[in-house]
Amino acid sequence: MLNVALPKGRLGEKVYAMFEKAGFPCPSIKENNRKLIFENETAGVRYFWVKPSDVAIYVERGAADIGVAGKDILLEYTPDVYELLDLDIGKCRMAVAAKKGFRDDIRRPLRVATKFSNIAAEYYLSKGRDIDIIHLNGSIEIAPILGLSDVIVDIVETGTTLKENDLEVVESIVPISARLISNKASLKFKSEQIETLRRELMKGMEN
Ligand code: PRP
Repeated sequence: MLNVALPKGRLGEKVYAMFEKAGFPCPSIKENNRKLIFENETAGVRYFWVKPSDVAIYVERGAADIGVAGKDILLEYTPDVYELLDLDIGKCRMAVAAKKGFRDDIRRPLRVATKFSNIAAEYYLSKGRDIDIIHLNGSIEIAPILGLSDVIVDIVETGTTLKENDLEVVESIVPISARLISNKASLKFKSEQIETLRRELMKGMEN
């Protein structure tokens, strides 16, 4: 049985469709209910819906053999897992944004509000810019508007959230997309199933 952690939400539905096409169907998952675990014994697969930012934890600790996590989470938390495939969905970018017309005053530390403290710290370290990190858990865009921070480091997909809050991208940090990840021991002990899935997912992405 291959245990798969899927990110709950719109991305997860796309991911499931790809897995189904790759030969790992589980029709009961489409039933509209509050269940979180679905199993198809014949296909040898069990799916769990988990919070997107938790997928890597399930996989790292072996509660799931494989899963799909955003590159943002992998960069931020560096879980001890293998990254097997870029699924080319859930595409967005990590960027620095600020109020329109913002100019950096290099005489003092830059105040950076973010959910991604490690990504932000590493980025500014590489630029040699001294920063003061303000860790927030959501609605990051409010921080520069209220004067809590000078800039934010956050995910930008369509750019709508920034636009509607009069913010703009100042610098792009890194492109983000969803990745297939595997538990390290599972890749040894369930290598055949995982390799088949990876190969079929790749095939499915070609056409
Ligand atoms: C993300 C991100 C931005 C928004 C960007 O938030 O933090 O707020 O999406 O998307 P856009 O460029 O298409 O407008 P998410 O929906 O993950 O919620 P959260 O930040 O409140 O957790």
